[in-house]
Amino acid sequence: MIAIRLSLLAWFTITTNLTVPPQALGSKTTVIVNFFDQMDQQNLRVLDVGCGQGRDAIFIARDGHRVVGVDISANGIRDLEVAASREKLDIQGVVSDLATYQPDGMFDVILIDRTLYMLVPPVRRAVLGVLLDHVTIGRWQLIADETSNIKEFEAQALAHQARWDAGWVRRGYLYLRRI
Ligand SMILES: C[S@@+](CC[C@H](N)C(=O)[O-])C[C@H]1O[C@@H](n2cnc3c(N)ncnc32)[C@H](O)[C@@H]1O
Repeated sequence: MIAIRLSLLAWFTITTNLTVPPQALGSKTTVIVNFFDQMDQQNLRVLDVGCGQGRDAIFIARDGHRVVGVDISANGIRDLEVAASREKLDIQGVVSDLATYQPDGMFDVILIDRTLYMLVPPVRRAVLGVLLDHVTIGRWQLIADETSNIKEFEAQALAHQARWDAGWVRRGYLYLRRI
């Protein structure tokens, strides 16, 4: 009996490790989870910029939204697609360098969770400029980044050709609404 239990445990451990890619950045970010919890709509079109293995994309799609995840890492996108297909989630993975990426269409939410700081300042300014053009009026651009970068992102958005309201600014977070 003990032997059967041990082999079941070993089987579970092995298959879990094979099918569930580890999330390199750990568990979900509470303020981002709270944002989506408070949205009273489903079926939003969401772009997760620098999505990695899908730490955010997966829970957002589980909430009933359609997610496009873009990342330069083919391995990250592969892990994301494995997880999405296992749960039949509406997630499209795109392997692309943000320096040249052009989003396809408009989004209700564009999330950039700890990705802009990885780009050199001129590139991240250009990337943010492109992304700001792809948020539908009345919808959201969410940024989590180094606290020291947040003011610069806020100033860029407020000076952008489209009109933005800095809806929520906290240490390391900036939620902008296009008006
Ligand atoms: C710190 S991780 C954040 C991942 C994810 N947003 C999260 O919060 O779990 C930064 C991500 O940005 C991606 N990245 C870095 N430079 C990039 C670039 N030039 N183009 C596209 N993705 C890039 C990395 O591959 C990585 O997945």
